Amino acid sequence: MSTPVSLDKIVSLTKRRGFIYPSSEIYGGLANAYDYGPLGVELLRNIRNIWWTRFIHERRDMTGIDSQIILHPRTWEASGHVGSFSDAVVEDTTTHKRYRADHLIEGWIKDKAEYESLVVEDMNVDEMGAFIKEHTIKSPEGNPVTAPKKFNLLMETHLGTLVGQKDTAYLRGETAQGIFSNFKNVLDTTRVKVPFGIGQLGKSFRNEITLGQYIFRTFEFEQAEIEYFFNPDKQDWKELLEDWKNAMWSFITEDLGIRKENLRWRQHTDKERSHYSRDTYDLDYQFPFGWKELWGVAYRTDYDLKQHMEFSGQDLRYTDPHTQEKYLPHVIEPAIGLNRALFMVLADAYTEEENRTVLKLKPQLAPFTVAVFPLVANKEELVEKADEVYQLLNKKYPTYWDDRGNIGKRYRYQDEMGTPYCITVDYDSLSDHTVTIRNRDTMEQERVSIDSLLDYLRDHLSAAL
Ligand code: GAP
Repeated sequence: MSTPVSLDKIVSLTKRRGFIYPSSEIYGGLANAYDYGPLGVELLRNIRNIWWTRFIHERRDMTGIDSQIILHPRTWEASGHVGSFSDAVVEDTTTHKRYRADHLIEGWIKDKAEYESLVVEDMNVDEMGAFIKEHTIKSPEGNPVTAPKKFNLLMETHLGTLVGQKDTAYLRGETAQGIFSNFKNVLDTTRVKVPFGIGQLGKSFRNEITLGQYIFRTFEFEQAEIEYFFNPDKQDWKELLEDWKNAMWSFITEDLGIRKENLRWRQHTDKERSHYSRDTYDLDYQFPFGWKELWGVAYRTDYDLKQHMEFSGQDLRYTDPHTQEKYLPHVIEPAIGLNRALFMVLADAYTEEENRTVLKLKPQLAPFTVAVFPLVANKEELVEKADEVYQLLNKKYPTYWDDRGNIGKRYRYQDEMGTPYCITVDYDSLSDHTVTIRNRDTMEQERVSIDSLLDYLRDHLSAAL
C-alpha cells in the first residue's frame, strides 16, 4: 500500500497550476464549492469522455440520456428522497455549527481499540444520540452538542417568479431518477431489449453537512450513473453484480491507471444499506484522509420503477418481445462521482522526485498531451518553426505552447501539469528539420524528425494504453 499524498500538497499544486480554484474567491470563497480551471476542465472532460466511450459507445447493451436537473417534484416523493434522504445532524450549542453525528462519533472512536468493531453506519439516530450522550462527545470546537436530528439533503428551489406562490421543486439529488422517469420513453423509442442499461452524466446537488474535504464532498457535483435493467427470473443478480464490479475495476485500474493497492471493495452491512437496495458494494480509494467511497454498485431490485409506476399511474412494465410477458425489470446501479474520480486521479499521479514534482497521469488523461517550445522567444525563425510544429500537432492532440523562461523551468511546469511529452525547437531544427522530444516520466530526450512526430506520438501513446 503506498502512503497517500497529503491533502495540502494536492490543494497547493492544483491551485498553483490551474486545475482547481476555490469558488467565488473574489468574494471570500463559498464553502464546499470549487471551480475547475484551464487544466481541471480538460482532465474532467477526459475522465467523462472515457467513461462515456467505455460504458455507452462500446457496448451494444447500453444507451445514454440527458435529463433535466429539475424534475417533477413527485419524482422525489416516489423515489423516497423527500421522506428519507437525510443525515443525522448535531449542532454545537455555542457556535451553532452543524456536524454529521456519524462523523463526530467516528472521530471520537478513532484510535480507541475497544470500539474497533463498532460500525457507525449501522447506528440509527437514537443510537447515535445515546452514544454521544453516554460519552459526552463534544463538537470539534470542544462544546456540547444537541441530540441528533434528521436533516434532508435535497436542495429545494422554487419554480416561477415569486417565491411562495409556486411549487417547491428540487435540484436533483442523483441523476438516477431521470433515468427511471425516462425508462418508458427509451423503451418506446428505441430497439432495446432487456437486459440493457441506460447511462447518464450530469450535475447533482446535495445539502451536505460535512465541510473541508476539498472536492471529495461538495454541494454540487457531477455523477456518472448507470441503471442496468434485467429480468431477475432469467439472470442471476449476483453474477450480474460481479460483472459490473469487474467492469468498474478495469475502468479504474486500466483506463484511469490507478494503483491497485490504493483500492478495495467494501460490502455494505444490512443496516447500512439504502432502503431500496438488496446488496451494495463500495469501491473505496485511499484518499489523503483515509479509505473512502469512490464508486458504489447497488442491486436496487425493481424498487424505483415500482414506485414511479404507483406515483405516476403509468404502466412502466416491459413486454418481452418473445413471450409477451409483462414485468418490471430489476436494476444493478453503478454510480460514481466524477469529481471524486478526478481527485483520486490527481492523488494517485502525484509524485515527488529529487528535483521536481510530477503528475504521472495516464497520457490519455493528461490535460495536454504535448507541449511545444521555441528555444527562445525573440528569434523569429525559431518561433516560426515551433509554430509549424504546434500547428501540425494540435489538430491531433491537445498541444500547449510555452515560450517563457528557460527550458528547464518550462519542463518543471509541464511536469506539474502532467504533460507526457515536451518538444523543443532549437537552432539545429532550422537546418535539419528535427526537434528534441522529452519524456515526462523518464526525462530522457530524443532527437526526432518533425515529419515523424505524429507517428512517434501515436506509437508511444498506444504503447501506454
Ligand atoms: N444513485 C445512487 C447514488 O447517488 P451515492 O452513493 O449517494 O449513490 C454515488 O452517490 C456517487 O456520487 C458516490 O459514490 C460519490 O462518488 C458521488 N457523490 C455522492 N455525493 C457526493 C458529494 N456530495 N460530492 C461529490 N461526490 C459525491
